[in-house]
Amino acid sequence: MSYPEWKTGMTTPTIGVFDSGFGGLTVLRALVARLPGARFAFLGDTARLPYGSKSRRTIARYAVQSAQFLVREQGAEFLVIACNTASALALDAIQDAVPVPVLGVIEPGAEAARAASRTGDVLVIATGATVESHAYAAACRARGLRALEMACPLLVPLVEEGWTGPLVAAGADTEASAAQAASAPPQVAVTAEVIRIYLAELISEAAAQGMNPDTLVLGCTHYPLLRPLLERVLACVVPAGIRVIDSAEAAAEAAALLFILQDTKKHSPTVQVPTAQIRCFATDSVEKFERLGSRFLNQPTGKVELIDLGG
Ligand code: DGL
Repeated sequence: MSYPEWKTGMTTPTIGVFDSGFGGLTVLRALVARLPGARFAFLGDTARLPYGSKSRRTIARYAVQSAQFLVREQGAEFLVIACNTASALALDAIQDAVPVPVLGVIEPGAEAARAASRTGDVLVIATGATVESHAYAAACRARGLRALEMACPLLVPLVEEGWTGPLVAAGADTEASAAQAASAPPQVAVTAEVIRIYLAELISEAAAQGMNPDTLVLGCTHYPLLRPLLERVLACVVPAGIRVIDSAEAAAEAAALLFILQDTKKHSPTVQVPTAQIRCFATDSVEKFERLGSRFLNQPTGKVELIDLGG
């Protein structure tokens, strides 16, 4: 991939962030925290969600169209693929299709797992397509880790419905988390039970394979919204404790470092705008995006612009 000269005279380049839905807003939230003065264009391909149950060919076609929109029409000069499924199955296709640096979430997630794991055994939960690609297993193997992956196809729809439960992490006895748990809508019990079933199966499979996992990678950008609930359930299923790695945080950390490096090379120095400027685009359901997106982003999304990428 060639990295073109960044436009001179443009003080703050736009960072394009893309996901199949609004789960990728968890990556954007983490990016904004690290690059508070940057400009961001976020695209959620909500009309074609979920990617996680589709073929590599289809995912690559959708992801390339989305990346091209951010680069060609929004002038993004750096792309973060805030979707594990697109990163696992279409990163090469996207890199070939756009003339800007592109970062996916899988490698940073695996790197964070390597840093966290003492036993070298790692669990990964993700969409069906991500698991079938074994992208995490390969990235973990390259770092000397053993990974056991499990598809959790029910979790994305539960997150998209907002059945995510308390937002305060376990450590469960704080007043805030107790209050949130008490006021959690009854639907959250459904999500907790789904999580418990997936995790129990994963832990039992790991035991059957003689693994001693100490780290769980959230290999889908929707899952950070479930993190407090996941950690509560994990504490019951694995009393010894398992460290949770958020691939969204890991990717944002890697992207911020890479971006600052690139930016320093091309602009001297970058003049930052006072607060992050965020424009959000979606291919469908802009009202739902605005309503639920603020939960993911931890601030209002602003007016979401509807775009058409074709079929
Ligand atoms: N956010 C996507 C991911 O990280 C999952 C949603 C989908 O299936 O499109 O894999």
